[in-house]
Amino acid sequence: EQDRMTLQQAAPFPIGVAVDVKLLMTDSAYRHTVNQEFSSLTSENALKMNRLLVAPNQYNWTGGDALVDFARQTNKRMHGHTLVWHVAVPNWVQTFQGDSLAWENLLKSHIQTVIRHYKGRVKSWDVVNEAFEADGSLRKTIWLEHLGSDYVARCYQYAHEADPDVLLFYNDFSLDIKPLKAAAVKAMVMEFKRRGIPINGIGLQAHISIYNSDSKFRDCLDDMASTGLQIHISELDIRLNAKKIKDFIVSDVLLQQQQQKYAAIVRAYKSAVPKKQQYGITIWSVGDNDSYLVNDCKCPDAPLLFDTGYKKKLAYKGLMGAL
Ligand code: XIL
Repeated sequence: EQDRMTLQQAAPFPIGVAVDVKLLMTDSAYRHTVNQEFSSLTSENALKMNRLLVAPNQYNWTGGDALVDFARQTNKRMHGHTLVWHVAVPNWVQTFQGDSLAWENLLKSHIQTVIRHYKGRVKSWDVVNEAFEADGSLRKTIWLEHLGSDYVARCYQYAHEADPDVLLFYNDFSLDIKPLKAAAVKAMVMEFKRRGIPINGIGLQAHISIYNSDSKFRDCLDDMASTGLQIHISELDIRLNAKKIKDFIVSDVLLQQQQQKYAAIVRAYKSAVPKKQQYGITIWSVGDNDSYLVNDCKCPDAPLLFDTGYKKKLAYKGLMGAL
């Protein structure tokens, strides 16, 4: 019975995917898979600051609009990623000269311009991405340097001001294996609640490998869910080649382990996160060839649900079976 179902039909919560706009527009097998299987879309790159804010006060909405329009036409939830991330800072911003007020206005204006542009079309945003180091301290980014240690809170206030209906997420990686970082994220959320700073959800990226501990991941979900916020597994992929070996060989045994790991993540999510806090699970790309892990690393791997020809892998079966 489950054989004829798609992921979005079988899932009791939204099942999302990170979408590359160029592939969406040019590859019909890619587009078909996205459309069939997933109920929520995240912009892989199209809504990042370096793509949108191409020059001072100059926005290029082409890619972002194409994706958001597609989401609307296909009735999918659109999750915006991401307004503030130290990696996606445009070159001209990196060399920007200005006092702290000019920097504050630059970031405030960016957050509010983008949120207003997509008001009513994007349901939720990763407002700030990866603001913490593994030791729980604030990451020494260009934003921290120019805006000071309370900048994260102000980003959420600015976002809420621009659209009081949009859901605001904080997103970060390795929370399951970096307890000090996880504690810092939780402490920030609790502080926001005390101070009345708007925040609706936590995104756990989950770029993991077949060697990650299931119980640690489950405990982390449990801990984050104790905040009462929405919990989004926001960027799931499961590497086989954990050590990034250049001449690595993908074997059937490893693909079976991956199947088990996808199932374990779904089971952990269903058991640790109360239903009303289940914002969903988003997979970070469609086919194994599309994964940034494979493309940026130039090392063999197969981290996703679909193979290079968009055929369902054992990983798909693992996820589906646990939904
Ligand atoms: C990655 C994209 O997948 C790549 O295409 C891009 O070159 C760099 O960014 N954590 C995040 C995502 O929050 O934005 C990153 O996406 C992957 C890691």
